[in-house]
Amino acid sequence: MQDKEETIYLCPPVFRPPSEAYSLLIQLTEGCTFKCDFCISNLRKKFLVRDVKLVKKDLDIAKKQYGSNVKKIFFLDGNAMVTPTEKLLDVTRYAYTLFPNLERCGVYAHSKDILKKSDEQLKMLYKAGLKIAYVGFESGSNNLLEMVNKQVNKSDHIKASKKLMKAGITLSATLINGLGGGNNSEMSKEHAAESADLVNKICPDDDRIWYIAFLTLMVPSGTEIFKKKMKGEFLEMNSFEILQELKTFMNQIDFHNKNANCIFRSNHASNYLPIKGILDRDKDKIISTLNYGLTHRDILRPEFYRGL
Ligand SMILES: C[S@@+](CC[C@H](N)C(=O)[O-])C[C@H]1O[C@@H](n2cnc3c(N)ncnc32)[C@H](O)[C@@H]1O
Ligand code: SF4
Repeated sequence: MQDKEETIYLCPPVFRPPSEAYSLLIQLTEGCTFKCDFCISNLRKKFLVRDVKLVKKDLDIAKKQYGSNVKKIFFLDGNAMVTPTEKLLDVTRYAYTLFPNLERCGVYAHSKDILKKSDEQLKMLYKAGLKIAYVGFESGSNNLLEMVNKQVNKSDHIKASKKLMKAGITLSATLINGLGGGNNSEMSKEHAAESADLVNKICPDDDRIWYIAFLTLMVPSGTEIFKKKMKGEFLEMNSFEILQELKTFMNQIDFHNKNANCIFRSNHASNYLPIKGILDRDKDKIISTLNYGLTHRDILRPEFYRGL
């Protein structure tokens, strides 16, 4: 049995990207400084940046427990990039002194958190070992971003992505399929077109790896979007509308750099149809898969298996 003092502190519920499933999770912040209508990340948590001494103590415990097995660290919580740069640098550097095989540290970041840091600060973070940031784009449509209270616009997303890439930090961004709701084909087309345009515009000139993923909207209890649904003001899209929207997005992907290495995924537990590929090289293949899903609805993930 572990001594109580030897437990790494976590403030539940814990959310981390699927690709950080085997990472050491370290609670650097709690909650989030934003309050997007669809998100449960900050519903039960008051935002705070934890005392660096406590974070280092957790890293010390992890060193004793996992030592050289730690290859990746993910600093929780919803937007840990908002942490003052000195503190983020301090804990990141400290982690590298403890774990000889540490390859990268990562955080969730709202685009506004990235924009608040200078190029120099981002570069220092990258050099210290903060190698990946998971950014929630959700949409490229300014109308939709405003509708869900994202507190950011398409141009902010473009500037933040370019700034992040310039510093060397890998961008992993998510968009939400079905965010505009059902029975709203105009909004769906706008969401798809503006999101494709956003992704086209951030495509770098080189062949570095970057990630774009589509999740499918879930409506968790307690969120603003859930309240709207209960009042009949928000209708969820059906699986057909979801795939159609993704197809409209994919049709409008057109990178100026044909050697781009954009890893595209729509294989999260919330998605109806698992899709993976490299953009824009695999665009036609992905569209064929979507066409198959649109005509064979029996292969789609059943509603009760979907989750966040
Ligand atoms: C925990 S958030 C952190 C992202 C970061 N705070 C930001 O906003 O840029 C991770 C991502 O999960 C996705 N997400 C959150 N709630 C969701 C929901 N109800 N349905 C589908 N995706 C959701 C969004 O894409 C969100 O950006
Ligand atoms: S989506 Fe990101 S910014 Fe918005 S509330 Fe959730 S964690 Fe915070």
